Amino acid sequence: MSSPYFSFFCPVKVIAGFKALEHIPYELGTHGAKRPLLVTDRGVRGAGLVEIVTAALSSGSVTVPAIFDDVPPDSSTTVVAEAARLYRQNDCDSIVAVGGGSVIDTAKAVNILVSEGGDNLRAYCGASVLKRPLRPFFVLPTTSGTGSEVTSVCVVKDIEAGVKLPFVSQYLLPNVAVLDPRLTLGLPPFFTAATAMDALTHAVEAFTGLAKNPISDAYATAAIKKVAVNIVPVLTNPKDAPRRLELALAATMAGIAFSNSMVGLVHALGHSVGAIAHVPHGVCMSVLLPYVLEYNLDARRDAIGELLLPLAGSDIYAATRSSERAEKTLVHLRKLRDELFALAGLPRTLSETGKVPREKLPDIARLALDDGALVTNPVEAQYEQALAVLERAY
Ligand SMILES: [Fe+2]
Repeated sequence: MSSPYFSFFCPVKVIAGFKALEHIPYELGTHGAKRPLLVTDRGVRGAGLVEIVTAALSSGSVTVPAIFDDVPPDSSTTVVAEAARLYRQNDCDSIVAVGGGSVIDTAKAVNILVSEGGDNLRAYCGASVLKRPLRPFFVLPTTSGTGSEVTSVCVVKDIEAGVKLPFVSQYLLPNVAVLDPRLTLGLPPFFTAATAMDALTHAVEAFTGLAKNPISDAYATAAIKKVAVNIVPVLTNPKDAPRRLELALAATMAGIAFSNSMVGLVHALGHSVGAIAHVPHGVCMSVLLPYVLEYNLDARRDAIGELLLPLAGSDIYAATRSSERAEKTLVHLRKLRDELFALAGLPRTLSETGKVPREKLPDIARLALDDGALVTNPVEAQYEQALAVLERAY
């Protein structure tokens, strides 16, 4: 059952396809922009993706006046201020982010400064502090996982204060998300698998959580099917552009689902594992997902059982009694993880990551209790339960 009240919001224009990048100049024009600051990181630039984007822009007579390529994996207010300075020095009028989660978060924060003025990012921290639209903002994801191209949040570290600053506002949503398979064709197998499992987890947690609604359910199930059908073929043939595009679409659709219906205990525990043991986010998701679903099983038997259809296909779904579908969903999820372990070396347990000392599990469990994602998990989790799930996942 969905909750009796819900809202659903996604004003991001999605442009997807094999020539999607070439449409950017026209779209910039509709926003009255022609001088975008390109925000990216060294890895993306080193992979040659910036050249592909700038060539596509110049084919539409848009010249990029400045490129900020210094975004680190864990961005900070200092980095945001530097990028904002570059924007102002070059008289830019819009932002094009090319990268993964950290680049996109940084670009969102840069947009706050260049739109609102000044350098005091902290003044805009929190929920719904921004009161008006920001500068035209386009996002070109180079991984298929975070869904940040359709979310209204960003997190930036304040190094001086030693805290992470969260920003939540509808005005942080990009105007346009551009999904072009040229941007993900070179993503190595390990990160292809890890980010796909992040997308899958967004969809599964949105679909099984307390804040689910019929519209986000549609996006979630469609995203799960796209990941299930395409991830193994892409790992087998990484240059399969049509399937790469399917994974990109899955990540965006899962992003739309969870930005409206939230996530749950997988993310609460995963954020904590990432913070304490520095395990990549997508790996945390892949490791923890089946164990959290087991924990939620009795409370969400119907919803977890319904996931068998997008995950395993109609033949297996129809051949499985309705009372056994939830367990079968878990069987298929574990089978998928075994395949990703064989093809991409994606760990299946916390110990297989090689980064999580067992004696850290109590700290990880304690930290997870502060995570907002716990609120929408279908089963409440205290310290003992969180630790028990981590022990099982070890
Ligand atoms: Fe995630």
